[in-house]
Amino acid sequence: MQVIEEIKQKLQETFEKLGYPTELVSLSFSDRPELCDFQSNSAFALAKVLKNAPIKIAENIAQELKSDNFKVEVCAPGFINISLNEGYLTKILNDFATSEKLLTKTHKQPKTIIIDYGGPNVAKPLHVGHLRSAILGETVKRIAKFMGDNVISDVHLGDWGLQMGLTIAGLEEKFDLSYYFKNEGKKPDITMEDLNRIYPAASARSKTDEEFKKYAQNITTKLQNKDKIYYSIWQDIRKISVEAIKSEYSKLNVSFDLFNGESDSQDYVPKVFEILNKQNLIEKSEGAEIVNVAREDDNAPMPPVIVRSSAGAGLYATTDIATILERVEKYNPDEIWYTTDNRQCMHFNQVFRVCKLAHIGNDNLKLVHFPFGTVNGIDGKPFKTRDGGTMHLCQLIELVTEASDKKLVENTGKSDRQLAQMIGVSALKFGDMINFRTKDYVLDIEKFCSFDGKTGPYILYSLVRINSILQKAGEFERKYAVKDEISKNILLSLIKLSVEIENGYEDKSASGICQSAYNLASNFSTLYSNEKILSQKDIDRKNELLSLLEVVQKALTIICNLLALDIPEKM
Ligand code: ARG
Repeated sequence: MQVIEEIKQKLQETFEKLGYPTELVSLSFSDRPELCDFQSNSAFALAKVLKNAPIKIAENIAQELKSDNFKVEVCAPGFINISLNEGYLTKILNDFATSEKLLTKTHKQPKTIIIDYGGPNVAKPLHVGHLRSAILGETVKRIAKFMGDNVISDVHLGDWGLQMGLTIAGLEEKFDLSYYFKNEGKKPDITMEDLNRIYPAASARSKTDEEFKKYAQNITTKLQNKDKIYYSIWQDIRKISVEAIKSEYSKLNVSFDLFNGESDSQDYVPKVFEILNKQNLIEKSEGAEIVNVAREDDNAPMPPVIVRSSAGAGLYATTDIATILERVEKYNPDEIWYTTDNRQCMHFNQVFRVCKLAHIGNDNLKLVHFPFGTVNGIDGKPFKTRDGGTMHLCQLIELVTEASDKKLVENTGKSDRQLAQMIGVSALKFGDMINFRTKDYVLDIEKFCSFDGKTGPYILYSLVRINSILQKAGEFERKYAVKDEISKNILLSLIKLSVEIENGYEDKSASGICQSAYNLASNFSTLYSNEKILSQKDIDRKNELLSLLEVVQKALTIICNLLALDIPEKM
């Protein structure tokens, strides 16, 4: 963020002049906004190195740290307080007004990044467990694009495992499949609802009916060997599923460049074994083939990766390794990012180690897994339907739509399902992402859908209101000034927001963005209740306020785009 860099640069120069180690330069937003805007706590770290009192060091720094842009003060026992001058504040606001990137430090040399998120399984309905990967992955993708990277998103469908054999075995009992087996009659009319019923039943049956399970395994093997009949049934199931999955994701504003799946990487599996064998990385263990990935300095157990089962099948890890090889060959990415829940940390760690050992991709290829925590219900246990079943995504969307519609009726006296869905989905997304991704959180529909507090609807409501003011205002002369406390607070929240976008990129979490979007919206709300805007008599003041609002409008619009929230016309 430009402003922060400028102040840090000044600190850096001061340290150099004083002979202080520059790696100890630190700068943060003020813990006490009534005293200053930024603070540096460097004197405490320096005190240890220089064996001197922090207050003395802080005073030395303050004396040297001269700038026309800010005022410096020392506060016991050694804080360096920095407050921006009015002229500088105005300049920053001006800069915000002309920057399409909210003064973030976008990437001069864009990277190519593949983001693997969503990860739904064919023939299984999307449920609440798929929510976070879709929401977070979509936003992280948008942040990376915003920062200037070339991003390719891939849903990586689970479309090649036993669930496919189970679904086909279940289908054989419920449908006449002569079209496939005997090449006669019509293609059966299979719907997603059929698949949603057939797969869970088949899966449950396979747990008690050994013969059925063997039968399904047999189909899976045939399919994996591209048996013509089973492959064509599979293709149709996949098509039906992909349509349904796309339509569910579109309700969440989530989309992908690639709808590839585990099946697509199968052509790369032989090559993976060739590479692993050539480098003597494979060992035999009880009939299976494994790769040892433990390192001397591991402080937790790191089991070997099974790349081929004793029955000869490739496994989940094998598919992911083959997919990395495929991605490297097709797209030559600088980085591949994955987001799944934290139960898959070990899996990705193992997969990445195999790739590094085998030199799949060049040595600079960065493989990153960013895990997330569990979505819990108000009872603190994983989120379920009322009767304890798995909550499907469409049911959840229905619930937040219902809750938002109730709020709309309360506020406007009118029900509007379409608008309610837009607001409800935003509530769900914002409520999710405001939590740092690794944290478990409680999905409290009532709280998420409130029009007040740190919620999606509150952000949308603020933006809708700003849009309406600016629309009513019509043409006005742009005039930037930061003279009063409220405008200054708005500007500081804009600076914070800019920093949080950069942090969001690094941390692969939107929690800071959500927090500072809330701060910005609530500072706007203070302005709105304290100042006359449209009815302002002083024309200069009116222009200043409208110009400020226009910058806030731009910032909140960018944020809604990053969080993939639809902006309603009215609320
Ligand atoms: N389909 C997997 C699941 O349901 C998630 C896939 C995650 N991505 C990956 N490349 N393994 O658990």
